[in-house]
Amino acid sequence: MDIPRKMKGAVLPGNSAVVIREYDVPEPGHGEVLIRIKSSTICGSDIRAIYREHLGKGPEGYRGVIAGHEPCGQIVRAGPGMRRFKEGDRVIVYHISGCGVCYDCRRGYMISCTSPEFRRAYGWQRDGGMAEYMLAEEKDLVALPGFLTYTDGAQVACGFGTAYEGLRKVGVSGDDAVLVTGLGPVGLATLMLAKAMGARMLIGADVVPERLDLARRLGLARHVLVSGPDTVGEVRKITGGAGCERTVDCSANDQARLLCIQAARRWGRICFIGEGGTVSFQPSPDIIHDQKRIYGSWVTSTWLMEELAERLAAWELHPDALVTHRFPLGRAGDAYALMAGGKCGKVAVAFDEELAPAGKGAA
Ligand SMILES: NC(=O)c1ccc[n+]([C@@H]2O[C@H](COP(=O)([O-])OP(=O)(O)OC[C@H]3O[C@@H](n4cnc5c(N)ncnc54)[C@H](O)[C@@H]3O)[C@@H](O)[C@H]2O)c1
Ligand SMILES: [Zn+2]
Ligand SMILES: [Zn+2]
Repeated sequence: MDIPRKMKGAVLPGNSAVVIREYDVPEPGHGEVLIRIKSSTICGSDIRAIYREHLGKGPEGYRGVIAGHEPCGQIVRAGPGMRRFKEGDRVIVYHISGCGVCYDCRRGYMISCTSPEFRRAYGWQRDGGMAEYMLAEEKDLVALPGFLTYTDGAQVACGFGTAYEGLRKVGVSGDDAVLVTGLGPVGLATLMLAKAMGARMLIGADVVPERLDLARRLGLARHVLVSGPDTVGEVRKITGGAGCERTVDCSANDQARLLCIQAARRWGRICFIGEGGTVSFQPSPDIIHDQKRIYGSWVTSTWLMEELAERLAAWELHPDALVTHRFPLGRAGDAYALMAGGKCGKVAVAFDEELAPAGKGAA
C-alpha cells in the first residue's frame, strides 16, 4: 500500500474551533503500528473538556495533540517486535496508553494508570484518531471482529466500552428494569447493551427532543420520558411502585443523578457514568435505609473491551446504528459543532469506505 509522507490532522485550540494541520506521517517504532484511520467518532467528553474550552486537568488535560479518542482503522505498517497484530489487521484502539506495569494497568485498566510520566491518552496527551493515520502501541489494540464495521469499532473505543463496563459493574439480567438518564451516545449505548444483556424493561430519560426522538426511533426503550421534577413518580408508576433494579446516569446533570438514586428500587444499584458537575442527596432516606449502592465507572479495561467486541458480533449488534452524521476530515469543524449542539446521535469523522457506506450517506 502506498503511504504518503504527509497527512492532515485536526486539533482543538478551544473556543469551539477546529484547525486542520499538516503533519509528517509517523514511522512505527518497536511494538508500534501505523493505522490508516477509517472512522473516528466524537465523545461528549471531547466537547466538555476540550472543544469549548480546555477544562481538563490531569488525565483529561489536553496537550494540543491531534484530537479524537475513539479511533478505529487498519494496520498499514507494523514496527519490529510485534507479538500478535500484523499489517492488514482491523483494529480498535483502547484509547489510553498506560505504563503497563502499575497495579491498574496490570488489571487491564490502563484508564486509571497511576504513572504520571507514562500514562498518555490518544487525543488528549498523544496524537489521536482525527487524522488520516495514527501511531499506536500494540498493547493498546483490540481486534475488530469481521462482523463489525470500523464505525462500530470506533464507538467501542470509548462510548460502548464505557457503557458495557458500567452495566457489568452493576450486573444486568432478566430480573431487571433499567433506567438510563441522558440519551446522548453513551446513554443510547447503555440502553442497547442492557437490552442485549437481557434487561426485562428499559426506560430512558432526557430533556432534548431530538435525543428523545432518536431513542424512540431506534426502539431502544419501552418508555422514553422527558426528564423533570415528576420523573421519579413516572418511573415508579411504570414499575408498579417499586422503581428500577438498575439505574445508570449518562448525563452528568445533578437532577438526573438524583433521579437515578431516587428511582432505584430498594436494594437497587446505581451507576454514575456522566462526568463533571455535582449532585446532592439525603443519605438516609435516599440510599442508606433502602440498602442502595452507588457505583462510579470510568471507561473499561482492555480485556472487557475485547470481550465486548466479541459479544457485539455474537449479538449481531451494530453500534453504528447510533451514528446520525458522517463527515470527511476536512469538515471536522462541522462535526464537532453538531455534536456540541446536541441535536444529533453519534457523530463520526469517516474515511474511505466508511464515509458513505451503502445507504448511509455523508452529512
Ligand atoms: N465515565 C466514563 O468513563 C465516561 C466515558 C465517556 C463519556 N463520559 C461522560 O458521559 C456523559 C455522556 O456522554 P455522551 O457522549 O453521551 O454526551 P452527551 O453530552 O451527548 O449526552 C448527555 C445527555 O444528557 C442529557 N441531559 C442533560 N440534562 C439532563 C437531565 N436533567 N435529565 C436527563 N438527561 C439530561 C443531554 O440532553 C444529553 O443528551 C458525558 O458527561 C461524558 O463526559 C464518561
Ligand atoms: Zn470518551
Ligand atoms: Zn500504569
